[in-house]
Amino acid sequence: MKFFVDTAEIAAIAELNDLGMVDGVTTNPSLILKSGRDILEVTKEIAELVSGPVSAEVVALDADAMIAEGRKLAAIAPNIAVKLPLTWDGLKACKVLSGDGFMVNVTLCFSANQALLAAKAGATFISPFIGRLDDINLDGMELIEDIRTIYDNYGFETQILAASIRTVNHVLDCARIGADVMTAPPEVIKKLASHPLTDKGLETFMADWKKTGQKIL
Ligand code: E4P
Repeated sequence: MKFFVDTAEIAAIAELNDLGMVDGVTTNPSLILKSGRDILEVTKEIAELVSGPVSAEVVALDADAMIAEGRKLAAIAPNIAVKLPLTWDGLKACKVLSGDGFMVNVTLCFSANQALLAAKAGATFISPFIGRLDDINLDGMELIEDIRTIYDNYGFETQILAASIRTVNHVLDCARIGADVMTAPPEVIKKLASHPLTDKGLETFMADWKKTGQKIL
């Protein structure tokens, strides 16, 4: 499963990228706001730092304006994926921009039928939002399972980009189901390394090592 990092914070992306943990980056208008940066500038910096796809989201609501914004964002770097909302206009823009040869990430997907439409419109990635479904007591993981089944049934090449990941268990479940990509905040990716038994075991080893009175360096 590919790991995308869901942030527009350069330092956080760079830290994970240095470890080889970043296969791509996703941003959205809220993450741009949080970064306090100009969208064109920060997207360019991210796209230079990371070799994989960097999603940059349009903010227009009608197809023609989405296409114009998408072309401007795609011109920033060859690894930009234009992020479009899953609306009828977003699907129209997806068809045109993917036809132009740009990567397209269709976002704000909350149903398998929406994902089916995005695949038919030529999306490179579909972003089902797990956490936001869980927030309203629906099963985000069931959505990932349904999309996996439907895409496999018909051989759609659109990649399932599991989004709105909030917990390490979301990551595990996505990997079990076979999501192609998951995008998570840097904190969640770092938490994947944590285990209380690792901490406990290390504590014991350190205490015993101290008693040996030895040194390696
Ligand atoms: C990714 O593409 C989305 O923008 C992101 O995962 C949304 O996550 P949230 O629901 O935690 O805001």
